[in-house]
Amino acid sequence: MFISLEGPDGSGKSTQVQPLAEYLSREGYTVFTTREPGGTTISDQVREVLMRLDNRSMYPRTETLLFCAARAQLVEEVIRPRLQRGEIILCDRYADSTLAYQGYGHGNDLQILQQLLDFATGGLWPDLTILFDIDAIAGLNRRKVGGGEWNRLDDYQIAFHQRVRDGYLTMAHKDPKRWAIVNADQEIEKVQVDLRRLVLERIKTARS
Ligand code: TMP
Repeated sequence: MFISLEGPDGSGKSTQVQPLAEYLSREGYTVFTTREPGGTTISDQVREVLMRLDNRSMYPRTETLLFCAARAQLVEEVIRPRLQRGEIILCDRYADSTLAYQGYGHGNDLQILQQLLDFATGGLWPDLTILFDIDAIAGLNRRKVGGGEWNRLDDYQIAFHQRVRDGYLTMAHKDPKRWAIVNADQEIEKVQVDLRRLVLERIKTARS
């Protein structure tokens, strides 16, 4: 089963992945965790180009294609083979990030992006996508206070991040069979409790 975790910057999803993976392993599942952009040697190299603060002259279409390139490699090298072995993949961001950031955020045509993403992923979309929902400003503040990596994309204006958050909500409401929303604006432990309940329920339904 392929599960992706999505959300605006500072939504806390990366903090939640590992405890969720450990919990699912204890429940007897074989779990593999990865993240985007990255997860393979080649994809990590592309990530470096995307995140560098001095690459400010990068155009939105360049950015889009680089995200897709990193993803194409991750799908073939890691995700597809592991899914074929029956593992649960937890992916910290996936193709919906491109729709949210490069589509809703930058205003690239959503239909063209969809085609590009189908090409990059070979048509592989998650069985379940969890949206860690948080107000864009609250998320960015968390990120600043948390002292984690501040990258080129965090540096975009607040209106961009608001479009990203609204875009996520639009996608989640359009396709509730694939998407589930978690309120990320709560204490870490509470978010983890909600997440575990939701994921376990969906895995059991998918495997019954
Ligand atoms: P993160 O590792 O903190 O999630 O940072 C990744 C950044 O890249 C984040 O700002 C979201 C952005 N991003 C896109 O704009 N498009 C994409 O397709 C992906 C995977 C990430």
